[in-house]
Amino acid sequence: MAYQVILPAAGQGKRMGAGRNKLFLTLENTPVLIHTLRVFEQDPECAGIILSIHKDDEETFKGLLKEYHIQKVTDLVHGGKERQDSVYNGVKAIRTDGIVLVHDAARPFVTLDTIHQLVKAAEIDGAAIAGVPVKDTIKKAKGLLVTETIERSSLWAVQTPQAFLVSVLRKAHEKATEDQFTGTDDSSLVERLPHKVVIIEGDYDNIKLTTPEDIYFAEAIIKKRKS
Ligand code: CTP
Ligand code: MG
Repeated sequence: MAYQVILPAAGQGKRMGAGRNKLFLTLENTPVLIHTLRVFEQDPECAGIILSIHKDDEETFKGLLKEYHIQKVTDLVHGGKERQDSVYNGVKAIRTDGIVLVHDAARPFVTLDTIHQLVKAAEIDGAAIAGVPVKDTIKKAKGLLVTETIERSSLWAVQTPQAFLVSVLRKAHEKATEDQFTGTDDSSLVERLPHKVVIIEGDYDNIKLTTPEDIYFAEAIIKKRKS
């Protein structure tokens, strides 16, 4: 049941518009990055965290790990241009087999329940991802002209964490690099190996802080959890 984590944290947070990496913004006086790290820090099953960071922010990251007594970060690796590059640099730092979870540092509300379900599923099937049923009606359009309404009952909004056997994730990244394929998540690289991927129904609270209004949602989630 032990697992390791790759935490991509090397983005620029452009859509948040804070002028710096959104992971340094605070919720309840604590940086978003630390909220996310604490979930894994407090889980006895988590064997170690590989944190992928932008090289210009290295001192800031190191300072925060020290200030908040985060012990489980085993490696700081430098991120790349795309999220996929940042994850791949993390994959290259893995030294043991078993299960690896990839989780966006920008999703601080992931629960241990979801994490453990994913690890268990990845042990059986090799690849498992967290997702929630889509609530909106989704349409395809050419420009602004609707071309198709997609049957909603088969649609999932996919999140992180995504859990994999180390060998599967490594192979998927190597093949994507070889083929110059870029995907928006790690599962898409695994799917094209091909390799099966199973969905674990997660939680609508597991939001990714992306645009400014997500800060309000995050504050509401914290308030709800405290009550
Ligand atoms: N990420 C990364 N390396 C990149 C881009 C993103 O490690 N080159 C990380 C981010 O730090 C974040 C996660 O991947 O934890 C999800 O990415 P996203 O929400 O897109 O964050 P940013 O890329 O920082 O935001 P934006 O796209 O608005 O600039
Ligand atoms: Mg991004």
